[in-house]
Amino acid sequence: VVAHLQAKVLAGHHVLVTAGPTFEPIDPVRGITNHSSGKMGFALARAAREAGAAVTLVAGPVHLRTPRGVRRVDVQTAQQMLQAVLAHVEQATVFVAAAAVADWRVAQVAEHKMKKEGSGAPPALTFVENPDILATVAALPRARRGELYCVGFAAESHDLLRHARAKRERKGVPLLVGNIGPATFGRDDNALLLVDEREAIELPPAPKLTLARQLMGEIARRLADGGV
Ligand code: CTP
Ligand code: CA
Repeated sequence: VVAHLQAKVLAGHHVLVTAGPTFEPIDPVRGITNHSSGKMGFALARAAREAGAAVTLVAGPVHLRTPRGVRRVDVQTAQQMLQAVLAHVEQATVFVAAAAVADWRVAQVAEHKMKKEGSGAPPALTFVENPDILATVAALPRARRGELYCVGFAAESHDLLRHARAKRERKGVPLLVGNIGPATFGRDDNALLLVDEREAIELPPAPKLTLARQLMGEIARRLADGGV
């Protein structure tokens, strides 16, 4: 109902969103993941759709319903998430990286379930770094030319503004969004810090869907200013 009252500020745009955790296997029955619920990313996909955009949502393993009108691609691992993103980024004009991508994966995934029996000591796991999906997309020629607007997220435990500014530079993105406050995983409310090249503005505590709508408005305003 509310959607009808909103201006279609993203009409003509294609928004690609990543959401949720990734799951990195250890063996066929075990793996490593994190507590991301995917709620913020799903809210962003819904808000982008309400704002008139075509929306593709690349989701890690979460228990959430697909927002109406959104094309959803389910993945497990960071590598699969990167492949899915690259497969859909060509049409996108906005990329929002809301996923909590596992920074590392296990170097050698065991082919069979690892057993206690007979192995003696506990297994030693060796990790390798996962690809940085946001940095990869931000380095694409279309992003560099300003035809693909990239937005990153950051969950920091301290010094949010300083870390958010540094992360924005390091990832090479025009807009970096920080989660303000203690762990927001799984909660319905949040507060956000938006850092771009000019300013840092706060979106005060509100339901994630409210914040998602506000963030889409902020992105639309910057697109209109920048002429993407
Ligand atoms: N990100 C990504 N791919 C990764 C890691 C992170 O796309 N392999 C994206 C996240 O979706 C987020 C942003 O990069 O939008 C920042 O993620 P974050 O975990 O805060 O930053 P990292 O660069 O992984 O640094 P660290 O975890 O050490 O703070
Ligand atoms: Ca990380």
